[in-house]
Amino acid sequence: MGRATATAIGRSLPVGEGRVHATHWWIVDGETYLGAIDLRHYLNAFLLEGGGHIGYSVRPSARRRGLASWALGAVLLKAPALGLDRVLLTCDDGNVGSARTIESNGGVLEDVRSTETGVKRRYWITLDDAGHSHSSMAATRTVAS
Ligand SMILES: CC(C)(COP(=O)(O)OP(=O)(O)OC[C@H]1O[C@@H](n2cnc3c(N)ncnc32)[C@H](O)[C@@H]1OP(=O)(O)O)[C@@H](O)C(=O)NCCC(=O)NCCS
Repeated sequence: MGRATATAIGRSLPVGEGRVHATHWWIVDGETYLGAIDLRHYLNAFLLEGGGHIGYSVRPSARRRGLASWALGAVLLKAPALGLDRVLLTCDDGNVGSARTIESNGGVLEDVRSTETGVKRRYWITLDDAGHSHSSMAATRTVAS
């Protein structure tokens, strides 16, 4: 598996109104694109409400192979370098695959709330200095199969 190709957005560059600095990675297997994941460097009010620090997607043909879980774990390792000791992850209520991805990486559910982009499950992952989650995987599993 080719791991990640990063396109870092320089923090010195200005961002537009309502935008934040972020780093974007592609998940690739050789020359084949499999998915992508973003790490937002900080939250604004919109992201705190329902967007979170990290977003990801995996192409349909590559799903259910552990890619999103792996990519999230890999990106969490990058968070401490940005000064983040915890990160917010959200998903649509009912997005079982994303909820499981978050929970298996130590996400602790804070709440489920209505936002301007729909009903969101909001999770925090608390990190140690190396970017490993403090939470146990089993204790945070809340979504039934
Ligand atoms: C959500 C998404 C990123 C998951 O990617 P993935 O690579 O298939 O996820 P993984 O293979 O790492 O699976 C993670 C867990 O979710 C489970 N899962 C994944 N898709 C699932 C589905 N459709 N239904 C039920 N469980 C699912 C897996 O079985 C696994 O569970 P486990 O930890 O108990 O083994 C992918 O389905 C996707 O891109 N969806 C569209 C975009 C999206 O929803 N992005 C997230 C926005 S918050």
